[in-house]
Amino acid sequence: MRNTIRELQQLQANGEPIVLVTAYDAFSARLCEAAGVPALLVGDSLGMVVQGHELPIPVTLDHIIYHSAIVSRVTRTPLIIGDMPFMTYTVDPEQALTNAGRLMQEGGVGAVKLEGGEVLSPTIRRMVDVGIPVMGHIGLMPQSVYKVGGLRVQGRDLETAQQLLRDAQAVEDAGAFAVVLEAVPAPLAKLISEKLRIPTIGIGAGVHCDGQVQVFHDLVGLFGDFVPRHARRYVDAGKVIQEAVQQYADDVRARRFPDSEHSFAMKDDILAALMADATQMSGTEDDAAD
Ligand code: KIV
Repeated sequence: MRNTIRELQQLQANGEPIVLVTAYDAFSARLCEAAGVPALLVGDSLGMVVQGHELPIPVTLDHIIYHSAIVSRVTRTPLIIGDMPFMTYTVDPEQALTNAGRLMQEGGVGAVKLEGGEVLSPTIRRMVDVGIPVMGHIGLMPQSVYKVGGLRVQGRDLETAQQLLRDAQAVEDAGAFAVVLEAVPAPLAKLISEKLRIPTIGIGAGVHCDGQVQVFHDLVGLFGDFVPRHARRYVDAGKVIQEAVQQYADDVRARRFPDSEHSFAMKDDILAALMADATQMSGTEDDAAD
């Protein structure tokens, strides 16, 4: 049975940290499921780590639906959360409902995530009221990067910290089942986590959140040399893979690959008949040329 928001809430009730990882394709989704991750986020970070953009702004609803459908198709247990891309939920609540509905029906997700605090709370309320589980996302909101002027830590001064507290409360009051706190000072994230009943999921928000989310590519070293301050690289898989491809290329160039183990034989009598045919054919061609 696939996890729902209840299983995540149960983890929080048991005092067990909630583990979330992003996944975008069959490869990352299967590995995360095998590692026992209870919920996968098809994040708009795919704009950077899959599509090669600098920001998530170019990611469309169709992109997230496409990747969510893959992730939900190849997994059985984790809750799949689909990120709502830039401008797919902010025009008005009806637009948000229609687009979240597509994510659930076509992408197979069991919940959606959207960026925004107090201002977005009426939209969250409307979505939750019609049965769409919503995860909030406050603090650093990469879709607002042009407004904020960069990907920077949020809530460092009193005014913005107070606003973040209000945002967190508004998201909970609107009915969200959890809220991501991105790039928020650890003491503020702790305060928010203590104040809210719903789980807080941190990314660059310290150890006191109820759970953590990380981008798959950051964890396993598949995003070049760049490791964000908030991420720990557990394996340099990019380096391992590059070396493997390099060895393959060297083997092909030196004719060490493929060898007999990776090639297919044919029966001697068939080959002999074929060669006789080929000899006869080339003889006929020579005659015709004379
Ligand atoms: O898009 C994403 O991957 C995210 C997480 C980093 C929270 O929003």
